Amino acid sequence: MKVIAVNGSPRRNWNTAKLCRAALEGAAAAGAETELIHLEAMKFKGCMSCYRCHSVREYDTQVCYWQDELTETLKKCVAADAIIIGSPLYYGFATGDVRAFMERLMFPIDTYEINEEGVRPVKLDRVIPTAMIYTMNAGGLPEKNQLSMNENELRRMFGYSESHYAFDTCQFADYSKYRANLFGAEHKARRLEEQFPIEQERCRELGARLVQKARDAQAGLLKREETRLSPEIVEMLRGQK
Ligand SMILES: Cc1cc2nc3c(=O)[nH]c(=O)nc-3n(C[C@H](O)[C@H](O)[C@H](O)COP(=O)(O)O)c2cc1C
Repeated sequence: MKVIAVNGSPRRNWNTAKLCRAALEGAAAAGAETELIHLEAMKFKGCMSCYRCHSVREYDTQVCYWQDELTETLKKCVAADAIIIGSPLYYGFATGDVRAFMERLMFPIDTYEINEEGVRPVKLDRVIPTAMIYTMNAGGLPEKNQLSMNENELRRMFGYSESHYAFDTCQFADYSKYRANLFGAEHKARRLEEQFPIEQERCRELGARLVQKARDAQAGLLKREETRLSPEIVEMLRGQK
């Protein structure tokens, strides 16, 4: 049982990395072997649109054809039993590194196929439970927000996904060294002392839960939900052939 956490913050020991570590602690306590990978350590690009993974000849590949420093991580992820992706919020979205990583992770598993029942299959035939961990300055997000797209796509690709949001994080060790009167230094110190340990505990629980989900998947108890296109879209696609 191997659980991988991918930290998409450029900082290796701040909020996002710490919550990734906490999730891995929970996974380890539940019996998993764990590994934390920092995207910041690697030079890589997003999807290069080479389409080799969708070509007739190389369709069976589940790992991005493009070779760079991300390749080993992509191989590890599709061989893992659960994947955790941590990201700070940058201008409302996951970081550029996380987006680039997810493009390369998901596109070789995804297909442009549709079967007779209007189901869009993916290439991965097993469930790999996944989770996103987000950290941010914001004190909350609307219930329907753009980040749920990541969860939806991960669920479609890997069969299970959930998200944890850690709000109002402490961003600097010493706020007096920065021009940032948007934030109260004492408030942030209190958040770090009182709320962050709660976030860590929730992430430990998340890690343990993913291990259980992975066991359920291996026992055939957790099955992937198929993505079925609506009859209108199926009809429209048929009309285009
Ligand atoms: C370039 C940049 C953009 C950011 N944009 C947002 C944002 O849109 N919303 C938000 O709530 N926080 C934003 N933040 C704050 C970070 O998301 C927050 O401090 C996060 O916890 C940092 O994670 P880290 O400690 O793991 O680096 C931004 C930070 C940076 C550096």
